Amino acid sequence: MRALVVTPGSPSGVALSEAPDPVPGPNELLVEVRNSSLNYGDVSGAAGRAAGSVPGWDAAGVVVAPAADGAGPAVGERVLSFGGAGAWGELRAVPVRDAAVVPESVDLGVAAALPVAGVTALRALRASGSLLGRRVLVTGASGGVGRYAVQLAAGAGAHVVASARRGEGLAELGAREVVDGLGGIAPVDVVIENVGGPRLVEAWNALAAGGVLQSIGGTSGRPSEFPPYATVGPSRTLHSFQAGSAYGADLAFLLELVATGKLAVDVGWRGSWRRFDEAAAALLGRQIAGKAVLDHD
Ligand SMILES: NC(=O)c1ccc[n+]([C@@H]2O[C@H](COP(=O)([O-])OP(=O)(O)OC[C@H]3O[C@@H](n4cnc5c(N)ncnc54)[C@H](OP(=O)(O)O)[C@@H]3O)[C@@H](O)[C@H]2O)c1
Repeated sequence: MRALVVTPGSPSGVALSEAPDPVPGPNELLVEVRNSSLNYGDVSGAAGRAAGSVPGWDAAGVVVAPAADGAGPAVGERVLSFGGAGAWGELRAVPVRDAAVVPESVDLGVAAALPVAGVTALRALRASGSLLGRRVLVTGASGGVGRYAVQLAAGAGAHVVASARRGEGLAELGAREVVDGLGGIAPVDVVIENVGGPRLVEAWNALAAGGVLQSIGGTSGRPSEFPPYATVGPSRTLHSFQAGSAYGADLAFLLELVATGKLAVDVGWRGSWRRFDEAAAALLGRQIAGKAVLDHD
């Protein structure tokens, strides 16, 4: 099959060439991928993977072979999937438990923008307890995870404070306050923290007694230095976060929100997978607001 393959020495570490077809296990679907999307993590980590392998986490496409054990969608059904590799190929083997059927009204390119960022936002908020009437701070709010977190928290009844350098459109997604930096914000009950470095420390300092900070990412690439006694005092929680496993039910939930107009998918870049290098550079260079989506044409 054709695929974006880890290729040492290429500009982005990945190049469009040939890879072996995936061989599905007994509980896996074989999917012809029509669209995939880029995440900060799979793009920045691709060059560190084994040469010749096919990276990529988010893919949407059409089932070309059902699972051998009879579970899950049939041939011809449109499915969305989340996995640790293989999204940037022409074909992907997908465990049934990590896939969901895409409603007819949802474009596959739009669906492909959901998995990692959407499931992460959903699970990090869910792990933070009830959001009704609580103040929720989202850092890196202009990015993939951030835009879904703003919308899901607002939809769950939170007062959302969105922090980003590029704050355009975040109020329309439900943020009640849009800030660039955390100086002067009132204490918050929950933090969805995507940036790391000094921002993590500032967000910790903004956390009210009893609050919880979900440490999701580190796009700043910088270390976090906590001043003496910053972590001493009334009880607050710094929670390390990982998206987990068994994504199918959460993918179906997010797709339903999209289909019913309750979740907007902001695609800031869309183009052929031949233009991967351009999309990857724009994503890592903070030139894309929201998600970048590839057409596997
Ligand atoms: N733990 C997990 O399971 C999990 C799952 C998904 C993602 N993540 C992590 O979560 C983070 C966010 O992921 P994402 O896909 O939402 O990324 P993204 O789309 O690239 O968004 C990241 C946002 O961070 C902000 N940012 C602040 N300083 C930055 C810097 N120096 N370089 C780049 N961006 C910077 C940018 O907003 P402004 O430029 O507007 O300020 C950008 O919109 C990443 O670190 C990712 O690895 C972790």
